[in-house]
Amino acid sequence: MTGRFDEVYQRSLRDPDGFWAEAAEDIVWYKKWDKVLDDSNPPFYKWFPGAECNTCFNAVDRHVDDGRGDQAAIIYDSPITGSQRTITYAELLDETARFAGVLSGLGVAKGDRVIIYMPMVPETAVAMLACARIGAIHSVVFGGFAPNELATRITDSEPKAIVTASCGIEPARIIEYGPIVKEAMEISPHDVGHVVMLQREQSRSELSGANIHDWNDVMESAKPVECVPVKATDPLYILYTSGTTGAPKGVVRDNGGHMVALKWSMKNIYGVDPGEVYWAASDVGWVVGHSYIVYAPLLHGCTTILFEGKPVGTPDAGVFWRVIAEHNVCTMFTAPTAFRAIKREDPGGTLLKQYDMSKFRTLFLAGERTDPDTLHWAEDHMKTPVIDHWWQTETGWSIGANCIGIEMLPVKPGSPTRAAPGYDVRILEPDGTEAPRGDMGAICVKMPLPPSGLLTLWNADQRYIDSYMSDYPGYYMTGDAGYMDNDDYIFVMARTDDIINVAGHRLSTGGIEEVLAGHPDVAECAVIGVADQLKGQLPLGFLVLNAGTSRDDGDIVTDAVRLVREQIGAVAAFRTAVVVDRLPKTRSGKILRGAMSAIADGTEYKAPATIEEPLVLDEIGVALRTVGYAQE
Ligand code: COA
Ligand code: AMP
Repeated sequence: MTGRFDEVYQRSLRDPDGFWAEAAEDIVWYKKWDKVLDDSNPPFYKWFPGAECNTCFNAVDRHVDDGRGDQAAIIYDSPITGSQRTITYAELLDETARFAGVLSGLGVAKGDRVIIYMPMVPETAVAMLACARIGAIHSVVFGGFAPNELATRITDSEPKAIVTASCGIEPARIIEYGPIVKEAMEISPHDVGHVVMLQREQSRSELSGANIHDWNDVMESAKPVECVPVKATDPLYILYTSGTTGAPKGVVRDNGGHMVALKWSMKNIYGVDPGEVYWAASDVGWVVGHSYIVYAPLLHGCTTILFEGKPVGTPDAGVFWRVIAEHNVCTMFTAPTAFRAIKREDPGGTLLKQYDMSKFRTLFLAGERTDPDTLHWAEDHMKTPVIDHWWQTETGWSIGANCIGIEMLPVKPGSPTRAAPGYDVRILEPDGTEAPRGDMGAICVKMPLPPSGLLTLWNADQRYIDSYMSDYPGYYMTGDAGYMDNDDYIFVMARTDDIINVAGHRLSTGGIEEVLAGHPDVAECAVIGVADQLKGQLPLGFLVLNAGTSRDDGDIVTDAVRLVREQIGAVAAFRTAVVVDRLPKTRSGKILRGAMSAIADGTEYKAPATIEEPLVLDEIGVALRTVGYAQE
């Protein structure tokens, strides 16, 4: 007997056109599509070609037209500044239309790029929606990135304008954005036309010049503008994510398919209805923030919480429960690391007991695998279902999930459940054949991806093909490795590339290595991810120094840590490196990062037969013990 989920899932694969056309009825279109899927130029698939729409209209205007004008669209809750603000749909429409007028006034038009480098304040969502309103393509850059990373994104996306704020606020310090933006604009050869600066009272920016505009000043005189129809296949945004080198990949998302998939997911995956309060405790700089702080809840007519704080320390490990109770949140989405932080501070969940959680229904976790301990702790204390779901910047929504709005399937700890409708997930062996159930392999998705899947990489069609489509022709390679059990449950176990996951943030060890290699005393280096109880993984560097270097090892390690912080940002959490005489390699020169990680974590590993000098692994073990890893 098959259940409701099976029926929906099978139909999504059997009749994708019918399935997604039906979902697309929930979106307001200026013009309907000529066909549902254009598959004439694989792997460049396009959903809803010929259709015209506007994402901002569907996220904001339509709800005001439908009578939701007085409903809260955004509740900004900022324990870090001690402030709160509720913005109704009518107010959001007014602010967004006026900021769209500001951008238009600065010469930003359809297809132009705008970089948004902002903290977690409502103006960030306003800026994103305003871009969508006029058909400009936004690229939000996470506030924890250093000037160099911002500069890379400026150079690649060539924005007409940057929207920023005077500062971001971390528990222990204020991050001044002005100098970061200034330095990034100096590093990048691209000439950014204008900067709009939101001055925050916690620290005002002194950045000035003819092309630096104060948010409040320009908003005061701004004329509201209407939504501009764009093609469903036009880009809505570029979101840069870590690739295998230091150059980030600019994932390009469309307007039409993205809206269809996200609106559909709110009911079918999250089980949420319009008018309910939904909270994704992430950051708008990440894909989770794009999809589930801004677009999906607003497309669905929900109230979204924009939270500027941390799971612990703002002021305590009870802040999540306070926000849920105070704003009647029914569904929350965050990263397991946030729950590990709470569990560490309040293992007995005593703070939770102080709050009325009666309206709360489901906790969703993603960003990294939910370890069974964290899953059980959250279930035991919240007494609600806890759902691990798996997705990527490239897809914009879940590849694997327990779609509780369709049918809640039994939870298997350690698994994000089954492939979501639209995704034909296969576990492939290196030769492209399907792996037997239970055997590890590369997790791939048979093309085409469902709506919202990346269109390409910005300015890099060939890199799109090389990164995702070349190893397994006809499939999208997720970069994750894992297995599927006999019930079709997916287990995502590791990456197949050199991406590591630090506190739910995706980082490239290759990118960190590029920084370390730039140190004048470093001859060779390697970076691996080591297991960390709080953050899941942490990067750890190995440095081989140039012969004859007279400087102290400790000083060089200190330099290395500083360099990564300066060039990538604090978010890399790169705190340790060890100096070694040589790195373990195969005879063909490939560094054995997997073996090094296994030694550090104390897990089993088998040195490959092709290892150049087996003894070097013992030396690595000794070096790791000096920094507290590889304990015997
Ligand atoms: N702007 C500037 N700096 C930032 C930043 C931002 N938006 N976000 C983080 N940083 C800095 C932090 O201040 C910290 O700097 P430090 O080295 O000077 O202390 C560094 O980056 C690492 O930050 P973080 O990863 O937040 O670690 P933490 O130890 O401060 O906090 C957690 C640990 C678990 C509480 C935190 O990582 C967390 O809340 N994680 C949730 C992750 C998440 O939402 N992921 C999104 C995917 S769903
Ligand atoms: P990002 O693109 O930053 O969202 O990171 C995507 C990557 O995070 C995936 O490819 C996985 O490696 C990892 N990831 C996200 N969610 C999960 C999950 N639920 N289980 C296991 N890994 C996950």
